[in-house]
Amino acid sequence: MPVTELFEQAPVLDDARLQLTGTGRLRHLLTLKGLKRSMLTELLDQSEAFLSPLDNAPVRSRSLAGKTVANLFFEPSTRTRASFDLAAKRLGADVLNLDVNMSSRKKGESILDMIYTLQAMRVDIFVVRDASAGVPAYIARHVMDHVSILNAGESDVSHPTQGLLDLLTIRQCKQSFEKLIVVVVGDIAHSRVARSLASGLATMGVGELRLVSPKSLAPDPADFPRARILHKLDDGIRGADVVMALRIQRERIGNLDGIPGIDEYFANFGVSHERMKLAAPDAIVMHPGPMNRGIEIESSLADSPCSMITRQVTNGLAVRMAILSAVSRTVDTR
Ligand code: CP
Repeated sequence: MPVTELFEQAPVLDDARLQLTGTGRLRHLLTLKGLKRSMLTELLDQSEAFLSPLDNAPVRSRSLAGKTVANLFFEPSTRTRASFDLAAKRLGADVLNLDVNMSSRKKGESILDMIYTLQAMRVDIFVVRDASAGVPAYIARHVMDHVSILNAGESDVSHPTQGLLDLLTIRQCKQSFEKLIVVVVGDIAHSRVARSLASGLATMGVGELRLVSPKSLAPDPADFPRARILHKLDDGIRGADVVMALRIQRERIGNLDGIPGIDEYFANFGVSHERMKLAAPDAIVMHPGPMNRGIEIESSLADSPCSMITRQVTNGLAVRMAILSAVSRTVDTR
């Protein structure tokens, strides 16, 4: 259910600056763009601290006791929504998971009136997913000083917590970014996951980023200034250290003409055991989920030892705990 009301004509600050306080601390999380390497490293370190060294189960704390977190998901989600919910609860917050399809937005209430209503109930942190670009920043420009906005997936623009959990997973497996070849294959054109990962990898100084897609799903090169854009997976995967598969985002594609059918897609762009033989011997496979087995990834590969897909999900919980803690600290120490 996209937001339909008109945005203001002239943004006061771009998203990258809007999310920081005057002293450079993180108040909202809207995008990974503009966040320095030192801040990304600190967030990854804090996420790591939320993973128990014994069994990798995220630890609990009471650092958000007395705070209220509202999850507003205007698009479907399993991983992001569940992990923000669990993360907030494991930090001791009260959590409101609003069923937006049963909310008064269905009666014509604007998104800002909805936010103002929940803000009046002393919600401190809004977690927002929406199909329209610009919604998290639009809300961030209008909330009170004690409120933080966390982008949980914004159209095809940005998915910053996914970017962080992907960086964390790569760092855990490969230690540093400088010499890595990372390949993302699939529907790059419509992928907020690819955009946030590319932004984070560029900041962390990745060796090389290759983006592989059918021509009909290729991105605007201006969106990925430091990446190599390719259309043959064998070329892209050769020597790669990290291979991430993406699904085709059918919900963002108006006209499916020109999009390969399932068999053709798997034959040319599916990540398989056979294709992984071209990658580095210790290469890892990733997927942000939800995945379509047998289309963008061979089912048995997704469950194989080189697959980090389950680890990505666990890391997502730790990353969301770290982000909730970080913005909460910023607001508390202002
Ligand atoms: N990766 C991701 O955002 O998954 P969900 O849509 O299930 O949240």
